[in-house]
Formats: sequence, structure tokens, C-alpha cells
Amino acid sequence: MDETSFVSALMGRMTLAEKIGQFNLLSAGEGPETGSAGVRNIRSRLEAGQLGAIFGTKSVRSVRAWQELALSGSRHAIPLFFAEDVIHGHRTIFPLPIALAGAFDPALWRDVARVSAREAAAEGINHVYAPMVDVARDARWGRVAESPGEDPFLAARYAEAMVAGLEGTDPLAPDTVVACLKHFLAYGAAVGGRDYDNASLGLEELIGVYAEPFRAGVAAGAGSVMASFNAVNKRPMHAHRALIRGWLRGDAGFAGLMVADYTGIAEISAHGLGDRATAAALALIAGIDMDMIGEDYVTHLPRLAEEGLARPESGLAIEAGEIVAAIEEACARVLALKYRLGLFDDPFRYCDEARAARTALSADHRALARRSIAESTVLLKNEGALPLAPGACVALIGAMADDRTNLLGTWAVSGDPAQAVTLREGLVALHGGEVCCVKGADLVDDTVLAGRLNVHGQTVFLDERPAEAMIAEAVAAARSADVAVVVVGEAKEYSGESSSRTEIGLPAPQRRLLEALAETGTPLVLVVKTGRPLALAEEVALADAVLLVWFAGTEAGNGIADVLTGVADPAGRLAMSFPARTGQVPVFHAAEPTGRPYSGRFEKFKTGYLDLPDTVPPATGLFPFGFGLSYTRFAYAAPRVDETALSGADARAVVRVSVQNVGARRGTTVAQLYVRDPVARITRPMRELKGFEKVVLEPGECREIVFTLTLSDLAYVMGDSLETLERVADPGTFVLATGPDARALQSVEITWQF
Ligand code: BGC
Repeated sequence: MDETSFVSALMGRMTLAEKIGQFNLLSAGEGPETGSAGVRNIRSRLEAGQLGAIFGTKSVRSVRAWQELALSGSRHAIPLFFAEDVIHGHRTIFPLPIALAGAFDPALWRDVARVSAREAAAEGINHVYAPMVDVARDARWGRVAESPGEDPFLAARYAEAMVAGLEGTDPLAPDTVVACLKHFLAYGAAVGGRDYDNASLGLEELIGVYAEPFRAGVAAGAGSVMASFNAVNKRPMHAHRALIRGWLRGDAGFAGLMVADYTGIAEISAHGLGDRATAAALALIAGIDMDMIGEDYVTHLPRLAEEGLARPESGLAIEAGEIVAAIEEACARVLALKYRLGLFDDPFRYCDEARAARTALSADHRALARRSIAESTVLLKNEGALPLAPGACVALIGAMADDRTNLLGTWAVSGDPAQAVTLREGLVALHGGEVCCVKGADLVDDTVLAGRLNVHGQTVFLDERPAEAMIAEAVAAARSADVAVVVVGEAKEYSGESSSRTEIGLPAPQRRLLEALAETGTPLVLVVKTGRPLALAEEVALADAVLLVWFAGTEAGNGIADVLTGVADPAGRLAMSFPARTGQVPVFHAAEPTGRPYSGRFEKFKTGYLDLPDTVPPATGLFPFGFGLSYTRFAYAAPRVDETALSGADARAVVRVSVQNVGARRGTTVAQLYVRDPVARITRPMRELKGFEKVVLEPGECREIVFTLTLSDLAYVMGDSLETLERVADPGTFVLATGPDARALQSVEITWQF
């Protein structure tokens, strides 16, 4: 029987209460929670046939046990499906998404997603809450760690590749899962960078920037989408009918499963739209199929389906018939997903202990994780201190230099730190010289903050020794070494969910350590571990080299040692601009021109900051988007176009740029193409990324990189309402710029008439 006939036959036998039961999504409680999970009533829900899916299982055994209970509790033997947060790997943990995005490498993203899917599916997991594709431009927001960064084009390519890797081509294959694009929409635009806070945005930005990766992920076949916690333009996203039913299901053509985020439906009430019954009705009508944790659907929908909803105080009236119709629709979507996964044929088809054991952390998965570290590590500065000279005596300093608890980074819920490699271990294994390791400083010196950072297990260990004693030990180690490699940055949970910061500098004890080490005169290499861009101007000035490693995952120590020793070239680039200081955020490359780029005689009256020079748009922060050095050097020629005057909507602009490795080592560069439309109907960004290509060149080797643009690449979104939104392109001049990052660009102009 085909899917539609099967689902409608089954629904024909189900009561309304049973249909509503399919919407309920609870946590197995086997891992960390991000809110109050409330009553753990999975068992009673299962016995009553009131559960559609479970997330957060940690073993095949547990999946099997829950499934058995579900089947015995369901009159129609409807199986559960199982979901999990597989954000940057499942058992084998890869670098954070913000790091991986900086690999600028769709093939790598696909491979990482394949491995993640393989490991998760082997443990009975069918649905993963990834990829997170929230464009993020405010480094104060802790969830930039999970995001592909500031640029919608890069985020869209990341979304497509991740979906392709997770879902493969066959939902029935034992090693594929259903992907879930999250969080819809503009979660990353939280005002002030405060997690969960709201966003007010014009449609050009909302749809043109924030929705772009969702559009791409849906087009790539993503089976599901998760709503975001925030309100957008005064409407909580879990109740945003115009964006979910209208734009996502309408314009973007999404036909899959829409899930709530953790208590997101209940939170409609906290947003001020009424009681929990109202919240349930609004979410259902908006188009949310499954209710995570809050149980408002099972609690309120049965009555709403009989009585409808009337709330004169908010002018709300929903007919019972509308509720029933929405229940039918949502139930069909949940069952269709289970059908596609083959769970009706065999509810245990993904449960295979032997496969799970041989898949998790296999040698080839670890090898990919190790390689992905070099691909996403960013060399921010190098005055000759890197790679380390063979045989050099290294003072390895820092609380995270030999610590396992901070290796995996946030949202590695199934990763085991015991399986991870510390930097000391990796360096000792690879570096020929002596490596002496000392702590130097605590990660933070505020005990309340330390308590908060230890929320998912201890990662901050406050030393009993006075700070001066630790610094003195580190200074002595640095003095007797050829080079000091100092690991500084954020503790694992200093970025991530609910980890926004008002100051994104290095915590004080680590700053003091660096100042003391700089006075020794020993060359200083900073290894920066972080989940977000940090404001590091002073620290960078003190250092001879700065290597940004983000949180690198299971193979951290090996992968970072590969780069430090020069076995691998640092091939990552920034997916987010680094500000000169906190007050400069949000800073991103796609800034718009203002009416005050300069002011003639009155230098002061221009866009920017009095206390921070050179911040007139398109200023790009301390380190621009796309930036990253290599151990070799590259020379980019000016771009050339095949035709400078194009005509017709079907024409194509062909841009060529030659890049040569002019150094003495093999190395990697990421050629980038940006576009500017200097005269349009509305103010347009001063740069928009429209292409990138990562190339590896031997010394002396030269390569021509060819980018092709169609008119739709130059089009943009414009409109006064979601209903009247259109994609338009304006004829005339376009500036096409190429180079190794968003700042070091050379450009050529074309005209395009159509
Ligand atoms: C997060 C989601 C996550 C969910 C389930 C929420 O707090 O916002 O990204 O998928 O928890 O763990």
C-alpha cells in the first residue's frame, strides 16, 4: 500500500484522542535537559497510546524498551520514532558548527553529516535536531556556537550539504535519518544577543537573510523543521501562522513535519497571548505538528476540538471544525514520517546492538573528525612562531591544555569526553621536542559564574593555589622553553544555549596570565578555544601567533597538534567577523551603506564610533568574515569577466580569478566572490557573498577559479507584506569582487540589462 492510502486507512480507524496522542513528544531523560521536563510520565502516556515520539535516548536497549511499550499501549500498534540532538556529531564529536561552517567545504559538511547519521541511526535514532541554520550576527548570543555564522549564502550551502548528508537518498536505508532545520525563524536575531529574546525585523532581512538557509534546506529535502522560541515582529514563532503556514509551507514548499522546541508551545502563554489552551490552539493553527515536552496538545486539544476557542480579550475565535481539520493534517504528517522510515513494517528495524557498537567512534569516523579540525582551524596571526620548530622545547600552558572536560564543546550530548584527546596528549604524540604542561590560571575567577558554567557537569575547576602562584609557575615554564603555547578562551558552556554574554573578552585571570607571559620575551602562541567570536585585540597584539581552534571535539588534541606542528595547513576561515571590542557587535561583512560614509570637513559626523576608529561601513571588525591565514602565502590577481556588458535575463556573468601559491609550502586558500548592487530600489548590502571555492595549491602553483552568476543570484527580496513579497533584480551596474576574505578584495564592474 502506498503512503497516502496507508495513512488514511490507519487514520480511519483512529479516534480523535489517538490522533492527538501522536503529537506528544517527550524526553527520555537520559541526557541533559534545557528546561523543566516536568512530570516524567512517558510510561503512563505510552500505556495510554498518547505518545508519538521520544527524544534523548542513549542506547539501542532503551529504544527497544520504549518501542515495546509503545506497541503494547497502542490499539493499532503504531510505533514511536526516536529523535536526538546530533548537532556536531553523535558519538564522534566534530568541531562546533561555527567552526565547521568556516571550512567552506560542502563535501566535508556532507561527510560529517553522513558519519553523524550513521552513528545515530545505528542506535535506533530516526530524527536529528540538526542542522541548526540560524544566521547569527551578534557574538553575544551563545548559540552562535551551533550556527553556521553570519552569512546567508554560506549558511544556505551548509544547510543543503548537511541535509544531503544526514538524509542520504533513501529514508529506508539503515544509516540515514530525517534532518530537522532549526530554529524557524530569526532565533539568531535575538535583541541584545540575549538568548530566547525577540526580534523585530523588516521582511527584506527576515526572508532575504534569516529564511534563506531554511529555503535552501527545504529545497534539499529536509524532512522536518523546528520552530524557534522567540517572537518575531511581536508574534511568538510557535504561533506564527503567516510564517509557518504561509511562507514555509506555502512559498518555500515545505511539506514535512513541523516540531515545537522544548516547551515552546506552552511559552506562547508566557509571551502574553493567553492561557495554555489558547497556546495549544494557536500553535496547531499556525502549523506546528508535534508538541515537545509541554503536553499542551494532549491536554487541551480534545476539548478545543469539541468547543473551539473564543477569547474576546484578544479578539480570538477559532471554530472547532478548524481545530479538527488541523489535527487531521498534523496527524497525517506524523504518520507519514513513520511510514517513510519503514517503522510500520518493522518498528525495530534500526535496533541493532552489534551495528551500534561497531559504528560508534570507528577509526574512519575519528580520522574524518581529525581532518575536519585542520579544515576548520583559523590562523589569525603568525609572525613566524608557527608551525612549531621541530624539536623546540614547548611550555604548554592553560587550564584547557590537558583537560578533557572542555574538549567537545556545547551540544555534544552523546559525546564521551573520556574518548577525547587533549592537546597535551596530541602534541606529545606528534611533536619531537619536550612538552611541559602547566595550568597558569583558572578559566574564570567568579564562583557564581563558575557554578553556572558547570551546569552540565564540571568543566571549571577553581584551583586552590593563589592566582599569583599559578602565574609564577607558568612564567618559569615559559622562561625555560623555546616557545609558550597558551590555551585560552571559554569554558565549554560559556557559549551555547542560554549562554549569552555582555562582554566577550577573555576572562580576567587568563588575561593576567597572558600579560605576565608576554613579559618573558619567549615567543607566545595563543590557541583560542571558544564557541563565539571574542574581542581579542589586546591579546592578539601580545602574541606572536594566534590559532583559533573553536571547540574541536573528540580528536581535538590530535587535530590541533597537526596544525601546530605543520603536518596540516590551517584551512579554516571565519564564518563570523571578529569585533575589535564587544561594543562593536553586531559587526558583519554585509553591512549597508549609510548616508554618512564621510562628512567632509566634519570628520566626526559619520557612521561609526568615536572611540573606535575606522568603523564606517563596510568596516569588518578586527578580523573580517572569510579571513584566515595559511602557512604559505597566496597572491590573488584582479578578477576578470568574460563580458563586461551583459544583456538578457538568461545571460550569465562569468568571473575568473587567478590565485597563486607564492610561498614555499603546500597550502589552502578559500577564494571568495562578493557582489554589490550600487544602485537599486532599496539600500543593498555593500558586499554579499555569492560564491566560494576552497583550493589546495603546491608551492608556485597557480589556479584559475571560475564563478558563474545568473540573474537570480543578483535578485533580492522586497515587499511590504509576506503576501506581496517578491524577488526582484535591477538592471544596471554590479560590482563583482574576489579575494581571500571579505576585506582583501579586488573588483571589476559589469553592466547587465534585461
Ligand atoms: C533547544 C533545541 C533542542 C531541544 C531539544 C531546546 O532547548 O533549543 O535546539 O533541539 O532543546 O533538546
